[in-house]
Amino acid sequence: MKSDQARWNDRFGKKEFALGKEPNPFLKKHIRLLPKGKALDIASGEGRNAVFLAQHGFEVDAVDISEKGVRKAKKLAREKGVKMNTFLVDLDQYPIEKERYDLIANFYFLKRRLIPSIKKGLKKGGKVIFETYLLEHRTLGTGGPKQAKYFLKPNELLRLFKDFRILFYREGIFRESGKKKAVASLIAEKR
Ligand SMILES: C[S@@+](CC[C@H](N)C(=O)[O-])C[C@H]1O[C@@H](n2cnc3c(N)ncnc32)[C@H](O)[C@@H]1O
Repeated sequence: MKSDQARWNDRFGKKEFALGKEPNPFLKKHIRLLPKGKALDIASGEGRNAVFLAQHGFEVDAVDISEKGVRKAKKLAREKGVKMNTFLVDLDQYPIEKERYDLIANFYFLKRRLIPSIKKGLKKGGKVIFETYLLEHRTLGTGGPKQAKYFLKPNELLRLFKDFRILFYREGIFRESGKKKAVASLIAEKR
């Protein structure tokens, strides 16, 4: 089987942005709820969300395993005239610095064993914004990952952050950017 890095390099290898240049709609809608400061975008891909955060005054660290993704994220930042830090890292090995971030963003990347490091990486009062697919997504036939481990079970995301103060949570099938998707979305604060 191909490594994650090789698969994502293939996906991001074309000139067009595979995931688009527009930020995730949930992030865009709730940007005002998020505390300005130092932000980490986990598995930042081609940079659509990291660049959006930088455009809104965050000081962003964008981390991803795909060099093609990181290259495109840098290109998008240049195009939009913003600065951000990019790091080519494998999140299986990368130590997120403790109590460093005001905001951690995690979109469409599910590594359950990273959750404790995400929590530790936030300052007190810092927030996490998280969205990814629910198991039901597989019945919709609108794309997404293949392996079951990459999908959330019902209420799972809520439970993963139960020690945080939940500021926003939703689960279900939504139509966004013209496509149906089954997702869980959360904004939560470290106490
Ligand atoms: C579905 S994409 C999401 C990208 C971005 N968060 C977004 O919403 O546009 C998943 C990302 O996870 C990255 N990735 C997969 N395994 C990784 C790992 N072990 N460490 C860091 N990044 C990884 C891929 O390179 C890809 O950019």
